[in-house]
Amino acid sequence: MSLLAASALLASVTFWSHPAAAQNVLSKALQDRVQENPHTTEADVAAGAKVFRRSCSLCHGADGTGGDGPDLTRGVFRHGSSDAALFRNILTGIPNSGMGGIYQPDKSIWQVVSYVRSLSRGGGEEEVPGDPRRGGMLYRSRGSCSDCHRLNGSGGRLGPDLSDLGWRRAPDHIRASIVEPAESIDGGYRTVEVRTESGGIVRGVLRNEDRFSIQLFDEFENLRSFQKTELTAIDKPEESLMPPLGSFFRGRDLDDLVAYLYSLRPE
Ligand code: HEC
Ligand code: HEC
Repeated sequence: MSLLAASALLASVTFWSHPAAAQNVLSKALQDRVQENPHTTEADVAAGAKVFRRSCSLCHGADGTGGDGPDLTRGVFRHGSSDAALFRNILTGIPNSGMGGIYQPDKSIWQVVSYVRSLSRGGGEEEVPGDPRRGGMLYRSRGSCSDCHRLNGSGGRLGPDLSDLGWRRAPDHIRASIVEPAESIDGGYRTVEVRTESGGIVRGVLRNEDRFSIQLFDEFENLRSFQKTELTAIDKPEESLMPPLGSFFRGRDLDDLVAYLYSLRPE
């Protein structure tokens, strides 16, 4: 099969996990791909926005400021900021991360690249008010953050690891997560509450669910598994297990805490 035929075939479907064989064909095809984005008009950006909403926003947020995947509005990308690098990362995904590839015609991928560029604030880092050093002290002393969050290898596991938060999230999102956690619940951390036959209630983070059983990580960090037949109710409230902490952190304290969390980057 020629490379062209192969990419036409692959372009006809969009799927996330793909066999290694298909990947090889693609990476070979990548070798002679264009280096500079040929599709950068306003119409291209609009077309890219559509693909983004459908295939990317689930992880990167509707406005690209981050979700389970990193904030894409910085304009600087850890895995490469050139057009060619963006193209490659979007086409093949990033190995051993949550991000699979997307099979679309080259043109749509370039359009997504244009859209991602259009999100960029240009300056890389966003200026944030606040003193990260003081914020670090607040993090350690107030609000029990480390009961639920890991940071550089220590702390609880009920909430997401915050070690690289500043790379994954824009400052506004970080601020909202603290003040109004229910507004921006992280996809992997849905709250679930089950009631057992004996009347007990167990609350935690949903891990897995199928027709017959449900697994959750309870508030004491135990992985609990239930057969659905032994439960009288399963509720998934649109609430975060993280309490709203806006009353503990306001004004300068909140600015400092956000500045600290935004400064957390992968090495
Ligand atoms: C299932 C979740 C998921 C989906 C869907 C997803 N991504 Fe990602 N994306 C991630 C994760 C997680 C990373 C970080 C990978 C790593 O380095 O660990 C990432 C990384 C990236 C990067 C590299 C960021 C950098 O700093 O180098 C780009 C660019 C990107 N994604 C764009 C997209 C686009 C465009 C789409 C849609 C076509 C998309 N992603 C769909 C989860 C996702
Ligand atoms: C009782 C447990 C608990 C405590 C205490 C707690 N959190 Fe959380 N946090 C969570 C959970 C669970 C989530 C994921 C659900 C969500 O997004 O709200 C979360 C999410 C977050 C997020 C969003 C992370 C992301 O990847 O987007 C940030 C930021 C955050 N917490 C910061 C803090 C800070 C700062 C403190 C202390 C001032 C704190 N948390 C205290 C449980 C907690």
